[in-house]
Amino acid sequence: GTTLGAAAAEKGRYFGAAVAAGRLGDGTYTTILNREFNSVTAENEMKMDATEPNQGQFTFTNGDRIVNHAISRGMKVRGHTLAWHAQQPGWMQRMEGSALRSALVNHITRVASYYRGKIHSWDVVNEAFADGGSGGRRDSNLQRTGNDWIEVAFRTARAADPGAKLCYNDYNTDGVNAKSTGIYNMVRDFKARGVPIDCVGFQSHLTNSAPSDYQANLQRFADLGVDVQITELDISGANQANAFGTVTRACLAVARCTGITVWGIRDSDSWRTGQNPLLFDNSGNKKAAYTAVLDAL
Ligand code: XIL
Repeated sequence: GTTLGAAAAEKGRYFGAAVAAGRLGDGTYTTILNREFNSVTAENEMKMDATEPNQGQFTFTNGDRIVNHAISRGMKVRGHTLAWHAQQPGWMQRMEGSALRSALVNHITRVASYYRGKIHSWDVVNEAFADGGSGGRRDSNLQRTGNDWIEVAFRTARAADPGAKLCYNDYNTDGVNAKSTGIYNMVRDFKARGVPIDCVGFQSHLTNSAPSDYQANLQRFADLGVDVQITELDISGANQANAFGTVTRACLAVARCTGITVWGIRDSDSWRTGQNPLLFDNSGNKKAAYTAVLDAL
């Protein structure tokens, strides 16, 4: 293949990018998107604050711009994200307890139902585990509604869109560490009890390198019977190109690693301002990191 998407497809994978609806009118951006990628993730447009700005009032206009752009060009869509402690609308930030739990379930039902049939994988729950050595849950208003909130979220999403793969997604989980092991134990428990989970997303916001046990970590999750996906890849630092190649080869070496998404297109599109962590420079030229990925595919 001569593009990321075509080369990944030859290996039975997708290669995606996070897309901002507001950039779809930028010809340089859209030309690269349409040429190189066969999957998209809305960078912000499907988050809780974007889709339910007022309780019970749902807005899909910007999410639809991205979904329609993708589907009309044969690209897959990753849904991101149905439940997260961050980017909640103000009304939800102020809620707690059983009222918040009900609002969460309603949110998941409405958003996943609206996009039913269009999403290949949903990040049902994002970033629910704590950093550091505890291996436990992150404190949040959602967590304080009860430890079962994650499995309730997954069961609700399954009922609303039975055809979508349902993922748990997080960061600093790229090697074997206390946080990733906490998630591993949750996934193992979910599989044992029949809680519907299909995939685990590894954000992979990296600096200079992937952990040495990156592939082994992906493999141990795959061995639980879930797919794994690299969901928000960006890598800063002087070793960037090598590290992008390493991550790509790790995914290809794991049979259940179904695809890679980079978190933006040009360096100037990145949320990591000034770190230049992506595959295309500010002018849209391919970087060494691009070549390293294409060569690895
Ligand atoms: C980021 C977006 O890229 C920014 O535009 C926004 O201001 C904040 O969120 N983990 C995630 C993504 O799951 O949703 C985040 O995206 C980056 C970290």
